[in-house]
Amino acid sequence: MELKREEIFRYNPQEFCRPYDEVIAAAPDKEPERQYYFMQYARTLLKADFEEQMAKGAAAARYGEEKAKEMLSQGIYGTFKINTFGCQMNAKDSEKLTAILEVIGYQEAEGEKADFVLYNTCTVRENANLKVYGRLGQVGTLKKKDPHMLIALCGCMMQEPEVVKKLKTSYGFVDLIFGTHNIFQLAELMVRRFHQRKMVVEVWEGTDQIVENLPADRKYPFKSGVNIMFGCNNFCSYCIVPYVRGRERSRKPEEILNEIRNLAADGVVEVMLLGQNVNSYGKTLDEPITFAQLLRQVEQIPGIERIRFMTSHPKDLSDELIQVMKESKKVCPHLHLPLQSGSSRILKAMNRKYTKEQYLELAFKIKKEVPDISLTTDIIVGFPGETEEDFLETMDVVEKVKFDSAFTFIYSKRTGTPAAAMENQVPEEVVKDRFDRLLAKVQEVGSSVSGREIHTCQQVLVEEVNHQDPALVTGRLGNNTVVHFPGDASLIGKIVDVEMDEFKGFYYMGHKID
Ligand code: 5AD
Ligand code: SF4
Repeated sequence: MELKREEIFRYNPQEFCRPYDEVIAAAPDKEPERQYYFMQYARTLLKADFEEQMAKGAAAARYGEEKAKEMLSQGIYGTFKINTFGCQMNAKDSEKLTAILEVIGYQEAEGEKADFVLYNTCTVRENANLKVYGRLGQVGTLKKKDPHMLIALCGCMMQEPEVVKKLKTSYGFVDLIFGTHNIFQLAELMVRRFHQRKMVVEVWEGTDQIVENLPADRKYPFKSGVNIMFGCNNFCSYCIVPYVRGRERSRKPEEILNEIRNLAADGVVEVMLLGQNVNSYGKTLDEPITFAQLLRQVEQIPGIERIRFMTSHPKDLSDELIQVMKESKKVCPHLHLPLQSGSSRILKAMNRKYTKEQYLELAFKIKKEVPDISLTTDIIVGFPGETEEDFLETMDVVEKVKFDSAFTFIYSKRTGTPAAAMENQVPEEVVKDRFDRLLAKVQEVGSSVSGREIHTCQQVLVEEVNHQDPALVTGRLGNNTVVHFPGDASLIGKIVDVEMDEFKGFYYMGHKID
């Protein structure tokens, strides 16, 4: 009997592999060895399946004859596409997932269509969730036409039990669901999916585990994010992060420094140290160390020219850190310091643990010690109970601090957070009006302080050839401002001196100085 294309399918363990019990029994218990074992095994399965598809002509039909042959000769057995929502943490997780998929034998798809489609989700605000459901609907239609596709979901949304429940009941075509603590297990979960041939769900509620030395992949050859800690212990009353990312865990400094040394040896000149609250780094380690001490150690690594970090909580920002920023030639003069609200009353309800006056004092101290610093922030409008007076306090802080830029958000009710149960939710039209006024204020103060480097010479890290004009390259100053200037691809990844000739609102045009 002739088998239908989807029945030949793919990853049929009966054809290619050993019984699942045996596979699991042979897996090492220790990480990351266990994951390398599953990566290797998943690769064997994909390869056997691809060869089968080649023999049956299905691979040629799918990718084109030439392309299919080329893929096989290069050890590539399928394509993938990762869609990342949300913050830098998710972007970093997606790099890790990319690396695992590449080891398994997948190659990044050129367009939207791929054999393995993954959504790395965010749930900080509700509209991020809605976007994912919309996209899933579309990809579900694609899968109906092409049952060979695998669809996976991970990230913060998966940590919410109601989301997983909804996916199980209404989106049964999803193959793989895993949480923020299970990123490192992608290969293991894929193997489980291949064998069980039904939806696999693995979402840990929390973990103490930090798995080191997994494969790594970088979007840019010259800059990289580096996780220094995971989770958050602050429980700001509006925020879902502590529930979906778990308790705060710091990586050991040796692990971080080793990773950065390896990155430097591989040509990386800029690192971004990542954590929900980097200022409390190291407090829970067996041998505690401060974030400022860690920065001093990173600074010693030859080859690393620029150090950035994200995000700082005002309550934990130490004088020691300000001192390091002041003295260091490598720590960039940019600080992202979320304000959230300028009203002490609202800040208290938000559980932010600082007042308006304390924030202002801190911002002025930093500006005094590091005069060329660029200060950016996050602000929420419409937190429950916010009055016009509270809102005007926020406007006042924006005016006084003169942030270079600010991310402004409309408060979004997140189920399970204390703020969701608060009374006095602010009416939508009032919030919208405040949001518009805040945005105008942020733009006004931003433009009053920007452009201050005009006609000065600045060090610029060149990031890419300009998308609009290939005669130009685009790079960033230490404070993160963008500059375009004449140059070519040979400059990418280099730090060069550039004169800032013209300021265009939020970027410079310049020329390179030899
Ligand atoms: N509603 C609106 N904005 C939020 N943020 C976090 N939680 C919420 C919420 N429930 C914002 C904060 C934070 C940024 C990453 O997202 O400003 O700093
Ligand atoms: Fe959320 Fe507050 Fe933690 Fe930031 S510090 S992740 S806003 S709880």
